[in-house]
Amino acid sequence: MAQINPSILSADFARLAEEAERVGGADGADWLHVDVMDNHFVPNLTLGAPVVESLRKATDTPLDCHLMIEEPDRWAPAYIEAGAGSVTFHAEAAAAPVRLAREIRAKGARASMALKPATPVEPYEDLLPELDMLLVMTVEPGFGGQAFLDIMLPKIRRTRQLIDKHGLQMWLQVDGGVSAATIERCAEAGADVFVAGSAVYSAEDPAAAVRALRAQAEV
Ligand code: DX5
Ligand code: ZN
Repeated sequence: MAQINPSILSADFARLAEEAERVGGADGADWLHVDVMDNHFVPNLTLGAPVVESLRKATDTPLDCHLMIEEPDRWAPAYIEAGAGSVTFHAEAAAAPVRLAREIRAKGARASMALKPATPVEPYEDLLPELDMLLVMTVEPGFGGQAFLDIMLPKIRRTRQLIDKHGLQMWLQVDGGVSAATIERCAEAGADVFVAGSAVYSAEDPAAAVRALRAQAEV
């Protein structure tokens, strides 16, 4: 079953509890995607672990923290302590990705690694069994509302092939420009977890947008 993770980057930051509520409910968001940016790894700044901790208390929806930060090896544990159920670090920023993935799992969260558009998946093939999810970015990380990069579809396909070749149960997430116009292509290429920011929060009924995206992603 396809999973839809609305990104609160496109929500009203002064009303995060209500914004989480708007996409929650029975067939609502599977996870809430929380974009953490440090203005070093990406040219934008968002929120940190204290906000994650408050959000954790405000919603029952599990939190999927996407760390677009330098030194994830140092900072990831704080996000698990704050209540993240899944922590994604970037391959380009991690000093010791295997050690970091093992530490995230040992602390009780799902371990996930993200690849920027220019980072190939092949060098990480042997590392996949250490992960619960791989995130293929379909825009340059840093901002919501950017256009989906079609040229990432072959990478999604190759990643799916590698996951299947090794018989892994891990999830394959896509993030950036995912909408009604692009989600089917991502699903056909083999993605099964879909982050959607503007496509969900710019909709009149965000919960209905989540349901519609999920139905479209069932290929
Ligand atoms: C971009 C973030 C995304 C962003 C997606 O750097 O990682 O999660 O919120 O927003 P949309 O869906 O609008 O591209
Ligand atoms: Zn993200």
